[in-house]
Amino acid sequence: MSKLTFTARKIKDAAQARSQCAILPVFGKKALSTAAQQVDKACDGAVSAAIDLGDFSGKSGQTCMLPGVGGNKRLLLVGCGDKSKFDRAAARELAKAISKALASCEASEATVYCSDLEVKDGDPQWLLAWLARHFTCTAYRYTETVSKPKPAQKLARVVLEAGSLSTGAAQKALDQGLAVGLGINEARNLANLPGNICTPSYLAQHARKLARGEPRLNVSILEEKKMKELGMGSLLSVSAGSDQPAKLVIMHYKGGKSAQKPYVLVGKGITFDSGGISIKPGAKMDEMKFDMGGAASVFGTLRTVTELGLPINVVGIVAAAENMPSGGATKPGDVVTSMAGKTIEVLNTDAEGRLVLCDALTYAGRFKPQVVIDIATLTGACVVALGAHASGLYANDDKLAEALLAAGTESHDRAWRMPLWDDYQKQLDSNFADIANIGGPGGGSITAACFLSRFTGDYHWAHLDIAGSAWDSAPKGATGRPVGLLSQYLIEQAG
Ligand code: BES
Ligand code: MN
Ligand code: ZN
Repeated sequence: MSKLTFTARKIKDAAQARSQCAILPVFGKKALSTAAQQVDKACDGAVSAAIDLGDFSGKSGQTCMLPGVGGNKRLLLVGCGDKSKFDRAAARELAKAISKALASCEASEATVYCSDLEVKDGDPQWLLAWLARHFTCTAYRYTETVSKPKPAQKLARVVLEAGSLSTGAAQKALDQGLAVGLGINEARNLANLPGNICTPSYLAQHARKLARGEPRLNVSILEEKKMKELGMGSLLSVSAGSDQPAKLVIMHYKGGKSAQKPYVLVGKGITFDSGGISIKPGAKMDEMKFDMGGAASVFGTLRTVTELGLPINVVGIVAAAENMPSGGATKPGDVVTSMAGKTIEVLNTDAEGRLVLCDALTYAGRFKPQVVIDIATLTGACVVALGAHASGLYANDDKLAEALLAAGTESHDRAWRMPLWDDYQKQLDSNFADIANIGGPGGGSITAACFLSRFTGDYHWAHLDIAGSAWDSAPKGATGRPVGLLSQYLIEQAG
Protein backbone atom coordinates (compact mmCIF):
# COMPACT_ATOMS: atom_id res chain seq x y z
CA MET A 1 0.00 0.00 0.00
CA SER A 2 1.41 3.37 -0.93
CA LYS A 3 1.84 5.63 2.03
CA LEU A 4 -0.22 8.77 2.25
CA THR A 5 1.91 11.78 3.04
CA PHE A 6 0.96 14.65 5.30
CA THR A 7 2.58 18.07 5.19
CA ALA A 8 2.04 20.94 7.59
CA ARG A 9 2.20 24.39 6.07
CA LYS A 10 1.59 28.04 6.89
CA ILE A 11 -0.79 29.51 4.33
CA LYS A 12 -1.57 33.24 4.30
CA ASP A 13 -4.23 33.34 1.61
CA ALA A 14 -6.15 30.29 0.46
CA ALA A 15 -7.09 32.09 -2.76
CA GLN A 16 -3.41 32.44 -3.68
CA ALA A 17 -2.53 28.82 -2.90
CA ARG A 18 -2.60 25.87 -5.31
CA SER A 19 -4.40 22.65 -4.59
CA GLN A 20 -6.35 19.93 -6.36
CA CYS A 21 -8.94 20.33 -3.67
CA ALA A 22 -9.17 23.13 -1.14
CA ILE A 23 -11.11 21.98 1.88
CA LEU A 24 -12.90 24.99 3.33
CA PRO A 25 -14.71 24.84 6.67
CA VAL A 26 -18.08 26.54 6.98
CA PHE A 27 -19.67 26.87 10.39
CA GLY A 28 -23.36 26.65 11.15
CA LYS A 29 -25.62 29.44 9.90
CA LYS A 30 -23.46 29.88 6.83
CA ALA A 31 -20.49 31.37 8.71
CA LEU A 32 -17.48 31.10 6.41
CA SER A 33 -14.05 30.30 7.84
CA THR A 34 -11.21 32.69 7.00
CA ALA A 35 -10.01 30.48 4.14
CA ALA A 36 -13.55 30.15 2.76
CA GLN A 37 -13.93 33.94 2.85
CA GLN A 38 -10.62 34.42 1.01
CA VAL A 39 -11.66 32.05 -1.74
CA ASP A 40 -15.16 33.55 -1.86
CA LYS A 41 -13.68 36.98 -2.48
CA ALA A 42 -11.43 35.65 -5.25
CA CYS A 43 -14.37 34.15 -7.11
CA ASP A 44 -16.74 37.10 -6.76
CA GLY A 45 -18.88 35.48 -4.13
CA ALA A 46 -19.41 32.13 -5.88
CA VAL A 47 -19.02 30.29 -2.56
CA SER A 48 -21.64 32.39 -0.75
CA ALA A 49 -23.86 32.18 -3.84
CA ALA A 50 -23.71 28.38 -3.67
CA ILE A 51 -24.57 28.50 0.02
CA ASP A 52 -27.44 30.90 -0.67
CA LEU A 53 -29.02 28.25 -2.86
CA GLY A 54 -29.87 26.57 0.43
CA ASP A 55 -28.42 23.11 -0.24
CA PHE A 56 -25.63 23.57 2.23
CA SER A 57 -25.78 25.45 5.51
CA GLY A 58 -22.63 24.43 7.36
CA LYS A 59 -24.31 21.80 9.51
CA SER A 60 -21.90 19.24 10.96
CA GLY A 61 -21.11 16.47 8.48
CA GLN A 62 -22.43 18.31 5.39
CA THR A 63 -20.21 18.68 2.33
CA CYS A 64 -20.55 20.50 -0.96
CA MET A 65 -18.10 20.13 -3.85
CA LEU A 66 -17.74 23.18 -6.10
CA PRO A 67 -15.64 23.74 -9.21
CA GLY A 68 -12.34 25.40 -8.46
CA VAL A 69 -11.08 28.91 -8.91
CA GLY A 70 -7.55 30.10 -9.63
CA GLY A 71 -4.93 27.64 -8.39
CA ASN A 72 -7.52 25.59 -6.50
CA LYS A 73 -8.96 23.00 -8.88
CA ARG A 74 -11.84 22.05 -6.61
CA LEU A 75 -13.46 23.57 -3.56
CA LEU A 76 -14.89 21.31 -0.91
CA LEU A 77 -17.10 23.13 1.57
CA VAL A 78 -17.35 21.18 4.80
CA GLY A 79 -19.93 21.83 7.48
CA CYS A 80 -18.53 22.13 11.00
CA GLY A 81 -21.65 23.12 12.94
CA ASP A 82 -21.71 25.82 15.59
CA LYS A 83 -18.18 27.30 15.91
CA SER A 84 -18.43 27.61 19.70
CA LYS A 85 -19.54 23.98 20.00
CA PHE A 86 -16.81 22.50 17.81
CA ASP A 87 -15.39 19.66 19.92
CA ARG A 88 -13.59 16.36 19.38
CA ALA A 89 -16.81 14.58 18.44
CA ALA A 90 -17.56 17.25 15.82
CA ALA A 91 -13.99 17.01 14.55
CA ARG A 92 -14.36 13.26 14.12
CA GLU A 93 -17.57 13.83 12.13
CA LEU A 94 -15.75 16.38 10.03
CA ALA A 95 -12.90 13.96 9.31
CA LYS A 96 -15.41 11.31 8.19
CA ALA A 97 -17.24 13.77 5.93
CA ILE A 98 -14.00 14.94 4.31
CA SER A 99 -12.71 11.44 3.60
CA LYS A 100 -16.08 10.39 2.19
CA ALA A 101 -16.17 13.35 -0.19
CA LEU A 102 -12.55 12.86 -1.25
CA ALA A 103 -13.10 9.15 -1.91
CA SER A 104 -15.57 9.98 -4.66
CA CYS A 105 -13.35 12.43 -6.51
CA GLU A 106 -10.15 12.09 -8.50
CA ALA A 107 -8.01 14.53 -6.53
CA SER A 108 -4.64 13.06 -5.56
CA GLU A 109 -3.87 16.01 -3.31
CA ALA A 110 -5.97 18.07 -0.93
CA THR A 111 -5.33 21.01 1.36
CA VAL A 112 -7.25 21.22 4.62
CA TYR A 113 -7.78 24.74 5.90
CA CYS A 114 -8.09 23.85 9.53
CA SER A 115 -6.64 26.84 11.36
CA ASP A 116 -10.07 28.28 12.25
CA LEU A 117 -11.09 25.00 13.85
CA GLU A 118 -10.64 25.49 17.58
CA VAL A 119 -11.43 22.23 19.30
CA LYS A 120 -13.17 22.97 22.59
CA ASP A 121 -11.90 19.92 24.43
CA GLY A 122 -8.68 19.39 22.49
CA ASP A 123 -5.67 21.26 21.18
CA PRO A 124 -4.47 21.98 17.62
CA GLN A 125 -1.99 19.07 17.82
CA TRP A 126 -4.83 16.70 18.63
CA LEU A 127 -6.83 17.85 15.60
CA LEU A 128 -3.92 17.41 13.20
CA ALA A 129 -2.98 14.01 14.60
CA TRP A 130 -6.59 12.87 14.41
CA LEU A 131 -6.96 13.97 10.80
CA ALA A 132 -3.74 12.23 9.77
CA ARG A 133 -4.73 9.07 11.63
CA HIS A 134 -8.23 9.11 10.20
CA PHE A 135 -7.17 9.67 6.59
CA THR A 136 -4.56 6.92 6.94
CA CYS A 137 -7.15 4.49 8.29
CA THR A 138 -9.72 5.28 5.60
CA ALA A 139 -7.08 4.60 2.93
CA TYR A 140 -6.80 0.98 4.13
CA ARG A 141 -8.16 -1.74 1.88
CA TYR A 142 -8.01 -5.48 2.25
CA THR A 143 -6.53 -6.88 -0.96
CA GLU A 144 -4.69 -10.07 -0.02
CA THR A 145 -7.18 -12.72 -1.12
CA VAL A 146 -9.44 -10.78 -3.51
CA SER A 147 -8.92 -11.12 -7.28
CA LYS A 148 -10.22 -7.66 -8.12
CA PRO A 149 -9.91 -5.52 -5.01
CA LYS A 150 -11.60 -2.13 -4.85
CA PRO A 151 -9.34 0.40 -6.56
CA ALA A 152 -7.08 2.34 -4.22
CA GLN A 153 -8.18 5.87 -3.47
CA LYS A 154 -6.53 8.56 -5.57
CA LEU A 155 -5.58 10.72 -2.60
CA ALA A 156 -1.83 10.52 -2.00
CA ARG A 157 -0.91 13.80 -0.36
CA VAL A 158 -2.66 15.96 2.21
CA VAL A 159 -1.49 19.44 3.14
CA LEU A 160 -2.81 20.81 6.42
CA GLU A 161 -2.64 24.32 7.74
CA ALA A 162 -0.32 24.63 10.73
CA GLY A 163 -2.48 27.47 12.11
CA SER A 164 -1.24 28.78 15.44
CA LEU A 165 1.40 26.04 15.67
CA SER A 166 4.92 26.24 14.31
CA THR A 167 5.30 24.18 11.15
CA GLY A 168 7.60 21.86 13.11
CA ALA A 169 5.09 21.24 15.90
CA ALA A 170 2.29 20.74 13.40
CA GLN A 171 4.38 18.31 11.36
CA LYS A 172 5.18 16.35 14.51
CA ALA A 173 1.48 15.95 15.27
CA LEU A 174 0.84 14.79 11.70
CA ASP A 175 3.72 12.29 11.85
CA GLN A 176 2.30 10.90 15.07
CA GLY A 177 -1.19 10.54 13.61
CA LEU A 178 0.24 8.82 10.53
CA ALA A 179 2.28 6.39 12.65
CA VAL A 180 -0.75 5.48 14.76
CA GLY A 181 -2.85 5.03 11.61
CA LEU A 182 -0.21 2.76 10.07
CA GLY A 183 -0.11 0.70 13.26
CA ILE A 184 -3.89 0.37 13.26
CA ASN A 185 -3.88 -0.70 9.60
CA GLU A 186 -1.11 -3.19 10.30
CA ALA A 187 -3.26 -4.81 12.98
CA ARG A 188 -6.38 -4.75 10.79
CA ASN A 189 -4.65 -6.38 7.89
CA LEU A 190 -3.14 -9.21 9.94
CA ALA A 191 -6.44 -9.90 11.68
CA ASN A 192 -8.40 -9.83 8.42
CA LEU A 193 -6.26 -12.58 6.89
CA PRO A 194 -7.95 -15.98 6.82
CA GLY A 195 -6.83 -18.69 9.21
CA ASN A 196 -5.41 -20.85 6.43
CA ILE A 197 -2.94 -18.09 5.56
CA CYS A 198 -2.39 -16.43 8.92
CA THR A 199 -1.12 -19.42 10.91
CA PRO A 200 1.26 -19.27 13.90
CA SER A 201 4.15 -19.77 11.44
CA TYR A 202 2.86 -16.88 9.35
CA LEU A 203 2.86 -14.62 12.43
CA ALA A 204 6.42 -15.68 13.21
CA GLN A 205 7.51 -14.87 9.65
CA HIS A 206 5.64 -11.60 9.81
CA ALA A 207 7.59 -10.58 12.91
CA ARG A 208 10.82 -11.21 11.01
CA LYS A 209 9.50 -9.10 8.14
CA LEU A 210 8.57 -6.25 10.48
CA ALA A 211 12.09 -6.25 11.93
CA ARG A 212 13.86 -6.24 8.56
CA GLY A 213 15.87 -3.06 8.18
CA GLU A 214 14.93 -1.97 11.71
CA PRO A 215 18.12 -2.17 13.78
CA ARG A 216 16.20 -1.40 16.97
CA LEU A 217 13.83 -4.34 16.56
CA ASN A 218 15.06 -7.88 17.27
CA VAL A 219 12.95 -10.96 16.81
CA SER A 220 13.27 -14.42 18.28
CA ILE A 221 10.91 -17.34 17.92
CA LEU A 222 10.44 -20.14 20.42
CA GLU A 223 9.50 -23.40 18.70
CA GLU A 224 7.42 -26.14 20.36
CA LYS A 225 10.56 -28.10 21.30
CA LYS A 226 11.95 -25.14 23.23
CA MET A 227 8.56 -24.44 24.83
CA LYS A 228 8.41 -28.03 26.00
CA GLU A 229 11.85 -27.66 27.60
CA LEU A 230 10.62 -24.53 29.35
CA GLY A 231 7.63 -26.44 30.69
CA MET A 232 4.94 -24.54 28.78
CA GLY A 233 2.51 -27.42 29.05
CA SER A 234 -0.49 -25.13 29.14
CA LEU A 235 0.31 -23.30 25.92
CA LEU A 236 1.21 -26.55 24.18
CA SER A 237 -2.06 -28.18 25.25
CA VAL A 238 -3.85 -25.76 22.94
CA SER A 239 -1.85 -26.57 19.79
CA ALA A 240 -1.92 -30.31 20.57
CA GLY A 241 -4.93 -30.88 18.30
CA SER A 242 -3.60 -28.84 15.40
CA ASP A 243 -1.32 -29.64 12.48
CA GLN A 244 0.07 -26.14 12.86
CA PRO A 245 2.87 -25.89 15.42
CA ALA A 246 2.55 -23.20 18.08
CA LYS A 247 5.06 -20.36 18.10
CA LEU A 248 6.03 -17.94 20.81
CA VAL A 249 7.06 -14.79 18.98
CA ILE A 250 9.24 -12.30 20.83
CA MET A 251 9.85 -8.87 19.38
CA HIS A 252 12.28 -6.71 21.31
CA TYR A 253 12.32 -3.01 20.48
CA LYS A 254 15.27 -1.19 22.02
CA GLY A 255 14.73 2.54 21.76
CA GLY A 256 15.72 3.40 25.33
CA LYS A 257 18.83 2.92 27.46
CA SER A 258 19.64 -0.74 27.97
CA ALA A 259 19.06 -0.41 31.72
CA GLN A 260 15.52 0.90 31.21
CA LYS A 261 12.89 -1.69 32.08
CA PRO A 262 10.74 -2.60 29.11
CA TYR A 263 7.01 -2.24 28.59
CA VAL A 264 5.89 -5.75 27.74
CA LEU A 265 2.86 -6.38 25.52
CA VAL A 266 1.51 -9.93 25.40
CA GLY A 267 -0.96 -10.79 22.63
CA LYS A 268 -3.35 -13.73 22.35
CA GLY A 269 -2.57 -15.18 18.94
CA ILE A 270 -5.12 -17.93 18.34
CA THR A 271 -5.06 -17.93 14.54
CA PHE A 272 -8.27 -19.95 14.51
CA ASP A 273 -10.42 -20.93 17.46
CA SER A 274 -12.71 -23.85 16.63
CA GLY A 275 -13.20 -24.41 20.37
CA GLY A 276 -11.24 -27.67 20.14
CA ILE A 277 -13.04 -30.75 21.49
CA SER A 278 -15.51 -28.36 23.18
CA ILE A 279 -16.29 -27.34 19.63
CA LYS A 280 -18.14 -24.14 18.90
CA PRO A 281 -21.52 -23.98 17.15
CA GLY A 282 -21.33 -23.20 13.44
CA ALA A 283 -22.86 -19.73 13.37
CA LYS A 284 -20.22 -17.06 12.88
CA MET A 285 -17.45 -19.56 13.50
CA ASP A 286 -15.53 -17.93 10.65
CA GLU A 287 -15.09 -14.89 12.91
CA MET A 288 -12.78 -16.95 15.09
CA LYS A 289 -10.03 -16.15 12.57
CA PHE A 290 -10.03 -12.81 14.42
CA ASP A 291 -9.02 -14.60 17.62
CA MET A 292 -5.48 -13.36 17.06
CA GLY A 293 -6.65 -9.75 17.34
CA GLY A 294 -4.61 -9.27 20.53
CA ALA A 295 -1.51 -10.48 18.72
CA ALA A 296 -2.35 -8.23 15.77
CA SER A 297 -2.51 -5.24 18.13
CA VAL A 298 0.95 -6.09 19.47
CA PHE A 299 2.32 -6.09 15.91
CA GLY A 300 0.47 -2.88 15.14
CA THR A 301 1.66 -1.09 18.26
CA LEU A 302 5.25 -2.12 17.59
CA ARG A 303 4.86 -0.77 14.08
CA THR A 304 3.79 2.59 15.51
CA VAL A 305 6.58 2.56 18.09
CA THR A 306 9.25 1.83 15.46
CA GLU A 307 7.81 4.38 13.02
CA LEU A 308 8.08 7.03 15.74
CA GLY A 309 11.37 5.74 17.11
CA LEU A 310 10.11 6.18 20.67
CA PRO A 311 12.93 6.37 23.24
CA ILE A 312 11.68 3.45 25.34
CA ASN A 313 12.14 -0.30 25.41
CA VAL A 314 9.18 -2.45 24.40
CA VAL A 315 8.89 -6.22 24.25
CA GLY A 316 6.06 -7.73 22.21
CA ILE A 317 5.23 -11.35 22.96
CA VAL A 318 2.76 -13.20 20.77
CA ALA A 319 1.43 -16.55 21.96
CA ALA A 320 0.43 -18.08 18.63
CA ALA A 321 -1.47 -21.34 18.29
CA GLU A 322 -4.41 -22.86 16.45
CA ASN A 323 -7.20 -24.44 18.53
CA MET A 324 -8.46 -27.56 16.72
CA PRO A 325 -10.04 -30.90 17.58
CA SER A 326 -8.25 -34.10 16.60
CA GLY A 327 -7.11 -37.41 18.04
CA GLY A 328 -4.22 -35.60 19.64
CA ALA A 329 -6.27 -32.73 21.04
CA THR A 330 -6.58 -31.90 24.71
CA LYS A 331 -9.86 -33.20 26.15
CA PRO A 332 -12.19 -31.78 28.78
CA GLY A 333 -10.96 -33.06 32.13
CA ASP A 334 -7.33 -33.25 31.06
CA VAL A 335 -4.87 -31.76 33.53
CA VAL A 336 -1.87 -29.86 32.17
CA THR A 337 1.10 -28.26 33.91
CA SER A 338 1.96 -24.64 33.22
CA MET A 339 5.45 -23.13 33.09
CA ALA A 340 4.79 -21.62 36.52
CA GLY A 341 4.34 -25.16 37.86
CA LYS A 342 0.61 -24.76 38.56
CA THR A 343 -1.58 -27.59 37.31
CA ILE A 344 -4.68 -26.66 35.30
CA GLU A 345 -7.81 -28.74 34.81
CA VAL A 346 -9.01 -28.05 31.27
CA LEU A 347 -12.76 -28.24 31.80
CA ASN A 348 -13.51 -26.57 28.49
CA THR A 349 -11.05 -26.60 25.59
CA ASP A 350 -12.75 -23.47 24.23
CA ALA A 351 -11.30 -21.47 27.12
CA GLU A 352 -7.94 -21.70 25.36
CA GLY A 353 -6.85 -18.06 25.33
CA ARG A 354 -6.01 -18.06 29.02
CA LEU A 355 -4.10 -21.33 28.52
CA VAL A 356 -1.69 -19.81 26.03
CA LEU A 357 -1.51 -16.49 27.87
CA CYS A 358 -0.64 -17.90 31.28
CA ASP A 359 2.62 -19.37 30.01
CA ALA A 360 3.39 -16.22 28.02
CA LEU A 361 2.78 -14.15 31.18
CA THR A 362 5.19 -16.34 33.13
CA TYR A 363 7.74 -15.95 30.36
CA ALA A 364 7.23 -12.16 30.39
CA GLY A 365 8.66 -12.06 33.92
CA ARG A 366 12.10 -12.75 32.42
CA PHE A 367 12.28 -9.27 30.98
CA LYS A 368 12.08 -7.58 34.41
CA PRO A 369 9.22 -5.53 33.03
CA GLN A 370 8.16 -2.03 33.98
CA VAL A 371 4.62 -3.19 33.22
CA VAL A 372 3.03 -6.10 31.39
CA ILE A 373 -0.15 -5.54 29.36
CA ASP A 374 -1.87 -8.50 27.77
CA ILE A 375 -4.40 -8.05 25.00
CA ALA A 376 -6.85 -10.80 24.16
CA THR A 377 -10.14 -11.58 22.41
CA LEU A 378 -10.74 -13.56 25.56
CA THR A 379 -14.43 -13.96 26.35
CA GLY A 380 -17.85 -13.77 24.77
CA ALA A 381 -18.95 -12.59 28.22
CA CYS A 382 -17.03 -9.34 27.70
CA VAL A 383 -19.07 -8.70 24.56
CA VAL A 384 -22.23 -9.18 26.62
CA ALA A 385 -20.98 -6.82 29.33
CA LEU A 386 -19.53 -3.96 27.28
CA GLY A 387 -20.52 -4.47 23.64
CA ALA A 388 -18.25 -2.98 21.03
CA HIS A 389 -17.56 0.48 22.42
CA ALA A 390 -15.23 -0.33 25.29
CA SER A 391 -12.55 -2.94 25.82
CA GLY A 392 -12.62 -4.54 29.26
CA LEU A 393 -9.70 -3.39 31.42
CA TYR A 394 -8.36 -5.29 34.42
CA ALA A 395 -5.29 -4.35 36.40
CA ASN A 396 -3.47 -5.17 39.60
CA ASP A 397 -2.15 -1.61 39.77
CA ASP A 398 -4.35 1.51 39.95
CA LYS A 399 -1.80 3.84 38.41
CA LEU A 400 -1.42 1.63 35.37
CA ALA A 401 -5.19 1.24 35.07
CA GLU A 402 -5.71 5.01 35.19
CA ALA A 403 -2.98 5.65 32.62
CA LEU A 404 -4.54 3.14 30.23
CA LEU A 405 -8.06 4.50 30.73
CA ALA A 406 -6.78 8.02 30.03
CA ALA A 407 -4.89 6.84 26.93
CA GLY A 408 -8.10 5.20 25.73
CA THR A 409 -10.10 8.39 26.14
CA GLU A 410 -7.42 10.52 24.50
CA SER A 411 -7.16 8.22 21.47
CA HIS A 412 -10.92 7.51 21.31
CA ASP A 413 -10.12 3.83 21.74
CA ARG A 414 -11.79 3.50 25.08
CA ALA A 415 -11.62 0.91 27.83
CA TRP A 416 -13.73 0.43 30.95
CA ARG A 417 -12.35 -0.92 34.19
CA MET A 418 -13.72 -4.19 35.52
CA PRO A 419 -13.27 -5.70 39.01
CA LEU A 420 -10.59 -8.23 39.87
CA TRP A 421 -11.90 -8.90 43.37
CA ASP A 422 -10.70 -11.93 45.27
CA ASP A 423 -14.34 -12.96 45.72
CA TYR A 424 -14.40 -14.17 42.12
CA GLN A 425 -11.29 -16.30 42.47
CA LYS A 426 -12.98 -19.27 44.14
CA GLN A 427 -15.03 -19.88 40.99
CA LEU A 428 -11.79 -21.32 39.60
CA ASP A 429 -11.38 -23.99 42.28
CA SER A 430 -10.81 -27.51 40.98
CA ASN A 431 -10.95 -30.90 42.71
CA PHE A 432 -8.29 -32.32 40.44
CA ALA A 433 -5.80 -29.53 39.82
CA ASP A 434 -4.52 -26.26 41.29
CA ILE A 435 -6.94 -24.29 39.15
CA ALA A 436 -9.73 -24.87 36.63
CA ASN A 437 -9.71 -23.09 33.28
CA ILE A 438 -13.33 -21.94 33.50
CA GLY A 439 -15.21 -20.21 36.30
CA GLY A 440 -18.85 -21.11 35.65
CA PRO A 441 -21.68 -19.06 34.25
CA GLY A 442 -21.36 -15.78 36.17
CA GLY A 443 -18.85 -13.04 35.35
CA GLY A 444 -17.09 -14.90 32.56
CA SER A 445 -14.82 -12.03 31.55
CA ILE A 446 -13.90 -11.44 35.19
CA THR A 447 -13.08 -15.05 36.01
CA ALA A 448 -10.96 -15.26 32.84
CA ALA A 449 -9.01 -12.24 34.11
CA CYS A 450 -8.79 -13.86 37.56
CA PHE A 451 -7.26 -16.92 35.91
CA LEU A 452 -4.60 -14.76 34.26
CA SER A 453 -3.93 -12.90 37.52
CA ARG A 454 -2.70 -16.15 39.07
CA PHE A 455 0.23 -16.11 36.63
CA THR A 456 1.36 -12.49 36.80
CA GLY A 457 4.07 -12.89 39.39
CA ASP A 458 5.08 -9.65 41.03
CA TYR A 459 4.99 -7.18 38.19
CA HIS A 460 2.47 -4.42 37.39
CA TRP A 461 -0.01 -5.97 35.04
CA ALA A 462 -3.08 -5.03 33.03
CA HIS A 463 -5.32 -7.13 30.85
CA LEU A 464 -7.47 -5.85 27.98
CA ASP A 465 -10.37 -8.11 26.95
CA ILE A 466 -10.98 -6.97 23.37
CA ALA A 467 -13.51 -9.64 22.37
CA GLY A 468 -16.07 -6.92 21.58
CA SER A 469 -13.78 -4.26 20.17
CA ALA A 470 -11.32 -6.10 17.91
CA TRP A 471 -13.62 -6.57 14.97
CA ASP A 472 -16.97 -5.53 13.51
CA SER A 473 -19.45 -8.10 12.24
CA ALA A 474 -21.22 -5.85 9.70
CA PRO A 475 -19.45 -4.93 7.56
CA LYS A 476 -17.10 -7.64 8.67
CA GLY A 477 -13.58 -6.52 9.39
CA ALA A 478 -10.92 -5.99 12.02
CA THR A 479 -10.86 -2.60 13.74
CA GLY A 480 -7.20 -2.47 14.71
CA ARG A 481 -8.17 -1.80 18.31
CA PRO A 482 -6.60 -1.29 20.79
CA VAL A 483 -3.56 -0.04 18.85
CA GLY A 484 -4.80 3.53 19.34
CA LEU A 485 -4.94 3.12 23.11
CA LEU A 486 -1.63 1.28 23.43
CA SER A 487 0.22 3.68 21.13
CA GLN A 488 -1.12 6.66 23.05
CA TYR A 489 -0.06 5.09 26.35
CA LEU A 490 3.47 4.40 25.10
CA ILE A 491 3.81 7.83 23.47
CA GLU A 492 2.89 9.37 26.84
CA GLN A 493 5.31 7.10 28.70
CA ALA A 494 8.07 8.11 26.28
CA GLY A 495 7.35 11.73 27.31
N1 BES B 1 -12.16 -16.52 21.47
C1 BES B 1 -13.20 -16.84 22.36
C2 BES B 1 -13.92 -15.62 22.91
C3 BES B 1 -14.83 -14.90 21.96
C4 BES B 1 -16.08 -15.39 21.69
C5 BES B 1 -14.46 -13.70 21.43
C6 BES B 1 -16.93 -14.69 20.85
C7 BES B 1 -15.31 -12.99 20.62
C8 BES B 1 -16.55 -13.49 20.31
C9 BES B 1 -12.66 -17.62 23.55
O1 BES B 1 -11.59 -18.44 23.29
C10 BES B 1 -13.77 -18.47 24.06
O2 BES B 1 -14.18 -19.33 23.34
N2 BES B 1 -14.22 -18.21 25.27
C11 BES B 1 -15.29 -18.95 25.85
C12 BES B 1 -14.95 -19.18 27.29
C13 BES B 1 -15.89 -20.14 27.96
C14 BES B 1 -15.72 -21.52 27.39
C15 BES B 1 -15.60 -20.12 29.44
C16 BES B 1 -16.56 -18.08 25.72
O3 BES B 1 -16.46 -16.86 25.85
O4 BES B 1 -17.61 -18.65 25.45
MN1 MN C 1 -12.20 -20.37 22.65
ZN1 ZN D 1 -10.43 -17.96 21.71
